[in-house]
Amino acid sequence: MGKTRIALLGFGTVGTGVWNILSTSKGEIEANIGEEIEIAKILVKNIGKRRRVEVPPGILTTDFEEILKDTSIKVIVEVIGGMEPTLDYIKMALESGRHVVTANKLLISKFGSEILRLAAENSVNLRYEASVCGGIPLINVIKESLSVERINEVAGILNGTTNYILSKMTDEGCSFETALAEAQAKGFAEADPTSDVEGFDALYKLRILSKLVFGVETNEDLIFREGITNITKDDISHAKELGYKIKLLAAAKRSMDKIVLRVAPTLVPEKHFLAGVGDCFNAVFLKGAAVGELIFYGKGAGELPTGSAVVSDIVGILRNKSTGQKDRKSTVDISCQTTEWSKSKYFVRFSMNNKTYDIQKLISVFESGNSRVSKMLKVEEAAKTSNVLLIISEADTLELRKALAKLEATFESVKGLRVLRVEDFEAEEFNPQILDAGNL
Ligand SMILES: NC(=O)c1ccc[n+]([C@@H]2O[C@H](COP(=O)([O-])OP(=O)(O)OC[C@H]3O[C@@H](n4cnc5c(N)ncnc54)[C@H](OP(=O)(O)O)[C@@H]3O)[C@@H](O)[C@H]2O)c1
Repeated sequence: MGKTRIALLGFGTVGTGVWNILSTSKGEIEANIGEEIEIAKILVKNIGKRRRVEVPPGILTTDFEEILKDTSIKVIVEVIGGMEPTLDYIKMALESGRHVVTANKLLISKFGSEILRLAAENSVNLRYEASVCGGIPLINVIKESLSVERINEVAGILNGTTNYILSKMTDEGCSFETALAEAQAKGFAEADPTSDVEGFDALYKLRILSKLVFGVETNEDLIFREGITNITKDDISHAKELGYKIKLLAAAKRSMDKIVLRVAPTLVPEKHFLAGVGDCFNAVFLKGAAVGELIFYGKGAGELPTGSAVVSDIVGILRNKSTGQKDRKSTVDISCQTTEWSKSKYFVRFSMNNKTYDIQKLISVFESGNSRVSKMLKVEEAAKTSNVLLIISEADTLELRKALAKLEATFESVKGLRVLRVEDFEAEEFNPQILDAGNL
């Protein structure tokens, strides 16, 4: 049996998971690829740090050059995270003819095309299954099993931390702050939670997925992003009154030659599969022209789930060294469209004085500007005021903004206006007259 020597860059949560899986499943993995795998070197920042697993002396190093110079190392696994020094390390690894596996969503989202090109130029593989939804096999399924499927929509709960927070708020009625503090205490959220709660983490993953399913690079600036920091207990309970749950949904939809991408707290019908995804689980929904609807569900993070995705990439490379994986390329010109011009469903909520409440007048405010009201509910809040909950079945952002301005001008007692998106996963609505941002 031959032997492949690999190196890990990083030995934190994911690196330790990779070490543990390669140790405990050594026999099965080696039988599967027909050769031995040896972790020859592990790059860390602090060599004196106490580790959860014991490694033989001499394996840990703080010197990347030591790994680069060791020509017996054939695969380099980057599980450090961030852009620096990882981007340089990955480029150097590829240029020196090493296959690379990474779990780094930030780097793949921003530099994926560039480093995949570099991998191709150097006839080596770059795999990144763990970068989106940790342990859920998704990227390699899209690249291989769905390689000829025309996918029209991808939507999912791509961030476990925000799903944990929203699930706590929904199930236990706690505030955003309380749920976040609990997520931090349990190690599900970082001390600085910005990337998760403001939707950046989900945006990076959505970009990676949309490149895979649509075969085009999307412009990050045209992707609408809204986090969950403003979501209140009232938003959640009022959404429930209309039969919805609030999830941080990352969604990309194809409409002819345009795609619209957004990350936003979104009302999802309680009966839909995604509404039932609780705790810190992830789930992805895909709609293919031939295959129909597909759902992927599982753990989006954690030592062993993420380690499992990394190990599957290492095995994939060692089984399939010469051919590699081809990326999908769109055969038509597809452009990324701003959400300003795309039709969407909205949930609108406000309170108003009961005396001024007039159902016909309210509906006409929205419908005069082409926003269609499909559901309306008045919930008495106090003797004098009520909460009004509306579902607007179809409006673009600009139409809706105009209607809301008109609402406030027409009814002086309207207060506490809240607007959130709704996704019913119905047949797509598309207005072929709308312009893409590049034409404005
Ligand atoms: N954690 C998850 O569940 C998960 C899920 C999916 C994807 N990912 C991705 O996986 C990657 C790693 O995440 P993680 O949670 O394992 O991170 P982590 O626990 O913070 O570990 C990072 C490791 O990188 C090392 N490191 C940091 N800076 C370094 C530098 N300049 N030079 C050399 N080594 C350095 C650290 O060394 P020391 O040990 O000496 O400090 C540590 O071993 C990230 O891209 C992350 O987005 C993580």
